[in-house]
Amino acid sequence: MEPDCLIIIGKEEDIKKSQRITAKINGREIVVFYHEGKFHALDSRCYHEGGPLCLGEIEDIDGQACIVCPWHKFKITLETGEGLYEGINPLEPSPTPKWQSKGVKQRIHKVTIDSGNVYVSPPDLSVSFDSDYFAEKYKNGGELAM
Ligand code: FES
Repeated sequence: MEPDCLIIIGKEEDIKKSQRITAKINGREIVVFYHEGKFHALDSRCYHEGGPLCLGEIEDIDGQACIVCPWHKFKITLETGEGLYEGINPLEPSPTPKWQSKGVKQRIHKVTIDSGNVYVSPPDLSVSFDSDYFAEKYKNGGELAM
């Protein structure tokens, strides 16, 4: 049975094979990754300047799977949409860079698997994220930049 408020993205097996797929939900570009046994859906346009995350590489950073934006290499956790940066605390006796979070910057979308199909829930727009600006800007394929 297809839950009617969810948007179908594709077949579970197909996305497991391709490892990533882009889709539109209400005109909004999203990307679904299959990484290490889990599905993750995020806005496909980077919160920084709208880079195409669907073309980025996934890296493990400090134990967290992150998509690295192909434009300026910002790192975004797949699980939570947090922007990570490497910072130092100058007050430490021998400051060493540590990965820290800027908070949730990229909107993530809830993924549901049902009967071999992958679905994404429509976004809750009562909460906003930095990536919303670019999701709106590129909506319906406007100004496609890779
Ligand atoms: Fe993604 Fe700048 S647009 S890092």
